[in-house]
Amino acid sequence: MSARTVLVTGGAGFVGVNLGRLLRDEGFRTRCFDNFTTGSRADAEAAGYDEIVEGDIRHLEQLAEAVSDVDLVVHLAAQSGVPTSVADPVHDCELNVRGTLNALIASRDAGVQGFVMASSSAPLGPTTPPVDERTVPRPISPYGASKLAGEAYCSAFAGSYGLPTVALRFTNVYGPYSYHKGSVVAAFCKAAASDEPMVIHGDGSQTRDFVFVEDLCRGMVQALTSGAAGMVAHLGSGTETSIAEVANEIAVRFPGDVPTQHVEERVGDIPRTYADISLARRELGYNPTTSLQDGLDATVAWFREADLSGAAG
Ligand SMILES: NC(=O)c1ccc[n+]([C@@H]2O[C@H](COP(=O)([O-])OP(=O)(O)OC[C@H]3O[C@@H](n4cnc5c(N)ncnc54)[C@H](O)[C@@H]3O)[C@@H](O)[C@H]2O)c1
Repeated sequence: MSARTVLVTGGAGFVGVNLGRLLRDEGFRTRCFDNFTTGSRADAEAAGYDEIVEGDIRHLEQLAEAVSDVDLVVHLAAQSGVPTSVADPVHDCELNVRGTLNALIASRDAGVQGFVMASSSAPLGPTTPPVDERTVPRPISPYGASKLAGEAYCSAFAGSYGLPTVALRFTNVYGPYSYHKGSVVAAFCKAAASDEPMVIHGDGSQTRDFVFVEDLCRGMVQALTSGAAGMVAHLGSGTETSIAEVANEIAVRFPGDVPTQHVEERVGDIPRTYADISLARRELGYNPTTSLQDGLDATVAWFREADLSGAAG
């Protein structure tokens, strides 16, 4: 049997590069579709994609051409910053709503057998953890709203056209190749690698659900080939960790003293969050096995070896 082809939109970004490598190792043929706004062609090449196509998800005809002969689609390309979405909600909508709709239309027309969309916990807004699929979404940022709209279109395309879609709500993803991200682990690793203090907003007692990118990518591949349609599921570690604990764990993995600097709490920062991942475990066979210690070992080792002198972020 010939290998199935997977198209990954946003395949040159942090998650996409890690996913591309896993898909290749699992024997899929892989095509990356990216406009390289935050991702890099060099990283996509390092991931070993069979093909790299430069294109923009805002242009349906470009997507249609890239998707026409593939079996499966993972849609990662997005505007992924909450502050950016607050500053420019129209841009956020064009990428995350219209771009997702374009990816769905192209996939429906090509008759793909599986479509996975990267969503987030952001659609839920502030709520008492753990969050799960029964939590009523009340987004408080345009990013949360646009991801929720993307989930809704995925559900609609399963219902109206029989497209097997799964929207996966990622928690806080960390790992190698996250150098251009502003997320907690990436920011702390970049600071520690360049002898800067790790900046903590507030006292660091806020909690998050940190999931190692390799575990997340395995969950995406399981969702892609599950045959599920119209499903929404949380992919995280299922555990709650404070920012202060992550800072300590990162500091001990760098030589010398890595200082922390406490600054004012951010407006709208939620005190606690983590996900209940039982649905993904049960329905997709999702099984994150990487401990925070092992995940941080791998991430810090990558940051210490990477030459980030020319990197953005
Ligand atoms: N990293 C996380 O912690 C996290 C958490 C929740 C959800 N997500 C979601 O996961 C997905 C991947 O996130 P990431 O962390 O890899 O982000 P990233 O910014 O590293 O990757 C996004 C990729 O999309 C590409 N892209 C952006 N606009 C495009 C366009 N118009 N056309 C084609 N390509 C375009 C970028 O160049 C980049 O390669 C996003 O949808 C994001 O919202 C990420």
